[in-house]
Amino acid sequence: MAKDPVRVLVTGAAGQIGYALVPMIARGAMLGPDQPVILHMLDIEPAAEALKGVKMELIDAAFPLLRDVVATTDAVEACKGVNIAVMVGGFPRKEGMERKDVMSKNVSIYKAQASALEKHAAPDCKVLVVANPANTNALIFKEFAPSIPEKNITCLTRLDHNRALGQISEKLNVHVSEVKNVIIWGNHSSTQYPDVNHATVKATNGGEKPVRELVANDNWLNTEFITTVQQRGAAIIKARKLSSALSAASAACDHIRDWVLGTPKGTWVSMGVYSDGSYGIQPGLIYSFPVTCEKGQWSIVQGLKIDEFSRAKMDATAKELVEEKSLAYSCLN
Ligand code: NAD
Ligand code: LMR
Repeated sequence: MAKDPVRVLVTGAAGQIGYALVPMIARGAMLGPDQPVILHMLDIEPAAEALKGVKMELIDAAFPLLRDVVATTDAVEACKGVNIAVMVGGFPRKEGMERKDVMSKNVSIYKAQASALEKHAAPDCKVLVVANPANTNALIFKEFAPSIPEKNITCLTRLDHNRALGQISEKLNVHVSEVKNVIIWGNHSSTQYPDVNHATVKATNGGEKPVRELVANDNWLNTEFITTVQQRGAAIIKARKLSSALSAASAACDHIRDWVLGTPKGTWVSMGVYSDGSYGIQPGLIYSFPVTCEKGQWSIVQGLKIDEFSRAKMDATAKELVEEKSLAYSCLN
């Protein structure tokens, strides 16, 4: 029997991530090849014509899984009955701008959209915040949508996770699918801590080998690897004069797919989720942790050994999130 369609909201759908993301969703990359979807696309008035054009292209692509498209500049209409909300709308970082510069523009958007979703989305709606500053926008969203369970509000650090997998794969000349269990701790910013202490590569005998053993160059892993992942967003802006879009859209699909359909056995992924105090991180912050997902629920991987080097980096990125939180509140006042 055919499944009932799932309603997926994409805000900022006329933007560059939106343009890459909506066809991926309509092709099943987010919810699976047998899951019909209804796309809800929201943008603002100046982008209304462009949004209409995206809708026309979705119709022209004749996607078998796409049951309907709602394209609107009305937040209430956009949020009605949605099961999944991917919050991409906002002001992107341009060359030379720090993420903090975009803060004041974006937190007030997230406060308003939290209220709209809280009132009009399906009660079990899962929320993924992509727009920067992603962790802090998600925190503001959580605080202004108190009836949406905290567990349902997350932010995107899967792009950073995938970037870390990509760097290890290039270094070791192995396929990226053979590398797993890197961790992104903290903020989706240049203070994030990409950690390979528990990461492994599939061995030819079917077992697994630690990345630290295979790279055998702690200096690279502790310096260049970390800064490359931390600065990858800025490097892409420098090269494209635009921020990452296809990789961000693909990571958003990975994030929701694993959250809804589950992570493979023995594998974790990184998600920005509210801290319950695990690993000594201040409760309530939206912080990126290693998580596994089952039956639509994420859980933070517990019991990983944290050395002194990691501890300092995990605390530094937490400190930045505490500062961003107070800056966000000062922008809202
Ligand atoms: P873009 O400027 O191309 O698109 C943003 C869209 O949002 C525009 O169409 C704009 O009209 C729309 N918008 C603005 N205010 C809105 C509102 N109130 N409601 C609905 N839509 C609104 O930007 P982009 O390149 O698609 O990037 C979107 C966001 O994602 C940026 O904040 C960017 O920094 C962020 N980003 C995050 C990650 C991540 O990994 N978390 C990666 C890449 C980009
Ligand atoms: C990215 O990581 O590519 C984006 O968040 C762009 C940015 O502002 O760094």
